[in-house]
Amino acid sequence: MLDTNPRVTSFINLLKSSTQEELVWMHGYLSATLGGAWGGAASGAAVAAQPKVTRFTLAYGTETGNSKRLATDLAKKAKESGFQVKLTALDQYRLKDLSKESYFFLIVSTQGDGEPPAAAVPFFEYIQQGDLKLDGVNFAVLGLGDSAYPQFCQAGIDADRLLAERGARRVLPVVKCDVAFDEEGSKWLADIASALSGAAAPSEQMAPGASAPARSGKVSYLGEVLTNINLNDEPSAKETHHIEIRCEGDIDYAPGDAAGFLPVNPVDLVERVVAALGQTGEETVTFREASGTLGEILSRKVSLTFLPKRVIAKYAGLLGRPIESARVNLDELLTAYPLASVDLAALLEILDPIAPRLYSISSSPAAHPGELHLTVARNSFTTESGAKGEGLCSSYLCGVPEETEIEFYIHKNSAFKLPAPENDIIMIGPGTGIAPFRSFLFERDAAGASGRNWLFFGEQHFVTDFLYQTELQDFLKTGVLHRLDVAFSRDQAEKVYVQHRLLENGEAVYEWLENGASLYVCGTKDPMSVDVEKALLQIIQNHGGFDTEASQSYLARLAEQGRYLKDVY
Ligand SMILES: Cc1cc2nc3c(=O)[nH]c(=O)nc-3n(C[C@H](O)[C@H](O)[C@H](O)COP(=O)(O)OP(=O)(O)OC[C@H]3O[C@@H](n4cnc5c(N)ncnc54)[C@H](O)[C@@H]3O)c2cc1C
Ligand SMILES: Cc1cc2nc3c(=O)[nH]c(=O)nc-3n(C[C@H](O)[C@H](O)[C@H](O)COP(=O)(O)O)c2cc1C
Repeated sequence: MLDTNPRVTSFINLLKSSTQEELVWMHGYLSATLGGAWGGAASGAAVAAQPKVTRFTLAYGTETGNSKRLATDLAKKAKESGFQVKLTALDQYRLKDLSKESYFFLIVSTQGDGEPPAAAVPFFEYIQQGDLKLDGVNFAVLGLGDSAYPQFCQAGIDADRLLAERGARRVLPVVKCDVAFDEEGSKWLADIASALSGAAAPSEQMAPGASAPARSGKVSYLGEVLTNINLNDEPSAKETHHIEIRCEGDIDYAPGDAAGFLPVNPVDLVERVVAALGQTGEETVTFREASGTLGEILSRKVSLTFLPKRVIAKYAGLLGRPIESARVNLDELLTAYPLASVDLAALLEILDPIAPRLYSISSSPAAHPGELHLTVARNSFTTESGAKGEGLCSSYLCGVPEETEIEFYIHKNSAFKLPAPENDIIMIGPGTGIAPFRSFLFERDAAGASGRNWLFFGEQHFVTDFLYQTELQDFLKTGVLHRLDVAFSRDQAEKVYVQHRLLENGEAVYEWLENGASLYVCGTKDPMSVDVEKALLQIIQNHGGFDTEASQSYLARLAEQGRYLKDVY
């Protein structure tokens, strides 16, 4: 008898002692596991269930392609299981259709400090409208994120809340996925399938807004810094470091991927914070499950720079009075608005963890096995008070001594990948935008790819800022690089940028495109990628004989075919 079986008794006891959130997670886990046992794959549950509803819309909002890849995979599996799926990017979706949807499922990532991807912003603005009525819509949201960020999966959480506030019915609780999301995604699809088959959905057993706990699945690598050199010569205004890191064994990445790093706060900043708190730094403290001395925790775990407004507002709560402060560093806040008595635990509670920063990988797995190369520009700025400041992670990486051990993880970018070896590529990468293209060139060289390679590079001065000049000239000599066009903006009276070089070579660029070439843009989002796009549209108009609208459609078609790819930041 099952009810006398001690394993069953312990299982029942476990269920009794579990929170609502844990029960929901267990439900998802079991449905996916059993789906696998019955149907071979998690999506097998979709096959096993007899769906009452067979049609749904699956929308995605993405910045670097992860949500798109997951949505595409899940749509394929659902179609194989007999569902009719309308797969759509949020920026392609007709917002007026939302209220007519019966079943609307959304996969959306979080960017910036808890914001939706740029392409998803109009959708978020639309569902924020108080008078929008979504009474007939059934929905579920799966958020992609990274638990190292303070606002973990915030865009997914916001979409889930907003859709419910507009009257839509939540079919499943919001799912928050960390960097390894494929398994969680398959479980979500299995849950959708069982909900559509009329089975009780987990949402019916739970409080609104609750979500299943996410599992990280993040693979961290420990490497040793082999080389850290400044690629710019004196007297350049820039400082761009080529950094090589060696690991024991292979690193699982492909050209186009980025690496994520958690910077360490500068020693003098930590000392100022400790002094402003009237502590020694040796006190034992706990911050988000990490324990150590105050000095260590402040140095490696707590974000001390450029505090976001929401943290400053929480600090005002501790202080007991409102404060009008710009986004300052913690030492400045503590000095300008000292606390009457310092409660370290309460202060640490309101502070964010240090967020990771991403850097495009400039090495190639084929040409540099066991190594990871980066091209990092020291970020500098002027603070509100007029002082000179430096970016936290870039200055940490530019200053990390050789032979230091350093941890990183790989951020896969499925939206920025090389085409088939026989296809031509045009790469537009000024400044640090060159990083993934160095990887592409080494990879194509190592693979003996027959497709032609054309690089547009730009910086301020030829003499001091021609990053990787010798390597690029070698690639030209050996025929790996078929064309190299450079723009050094400050070497003449009039500024010349990569977009000007593109326009000068418009006829050939158009010919390459007509011949099937893929276009890649990497570097600063604004103004570089915006100006490059304007130049591309101009080229298509001039050399293809199209009007404005038709040239936009031409470029949109290239993007749809995966031949116009951007990795901009
Ligand atoms: C996919 C991707 C790939 C990337 N690849 C590369 C690459 O290959 N190479 C590269 O160099 N970078 C790359 N970046 C950018 C990189 O991730 C970082 O954003 C960049 O190095 C700045 O980070 P930081 O920690 O140095 O600056 P942060 O400390 O985060 O500062 C960033 C900005 O915040 C503001 N700020 C910070 N503190 C203050 C303050 N006290 N007062 C006023 N303003 C302040 C400034 O405007 C500053 O420029 C990439 C980004 C992405 C998303
Ligand atoms: C600049 C930047 C900021 C990010 N900010 C957040 C964040 O605030 N919260 C979060 O959970 N994830 C954050 N992420 C992680 C992404 O959501 C995660 O990498 C996701 O898989 C990206 O999916 P996408 O490729 O569909 O955009 C950030 C990533 C980057 C590059």
